[in-house]
Amino acid sequence: MKILVINGPNLNMLGIREPEHYGKTTYRDLCTLIEGHAAAVGVTVELYQSNHEGDLVDKIQDAYGNTDGIVINPGAYTHTSIALLDALKAVSIPAVEVHISEVDKREEFRQVSYVRLACFATITGHGVNGYTEAIDLLRERHEG
Ligand code: DQA
Repeated sequence: MKILVINGPNLNMLGIREPEHYGKTTYRDLCTLIEGHAAAVGVTVELYQSNHEGDLVDKIQDAYGNTDGIVINPGAYTHTSIALLDALKAVSIPAVEVHISEVDKREEFRQVSYVRLACFATITGHGVNGYTEAIDLLRERHEG
């Protein structure tokens, strides 16, 4: 099974940005955590981060036909991007939305998610563990 983990804008700043919301784990530490979990459960994982909406759309499109699941934290594009929603719908790859913080309890504008409409599950407020939980959900679904 191959899973693509996509992180959107500013998630490369993890560990530096607003630790009260996002904790102190760096993006590099997050990648190590995800890779370690994927290896432990026998999943091939690819990690991708971009600050650019079109690059994120390209990456989702490139996954068509070669990826069994997508974990996506679109960062602020969660709340604005119909293009990311459409890309996920276009490829029809099972997807899980992850947010490190509890977006549904923050500002009103963070309580809107377009990508959620193309994801079969959403994990919010579990910190970086949300990513490994999302991988487990995709595995369960894949194995039926
Ligand atoms: C985030 C929440 C978003 O509102 C924010 O713009 C982010 C990170 C999260 O992981 O909690 O960049 O997606």
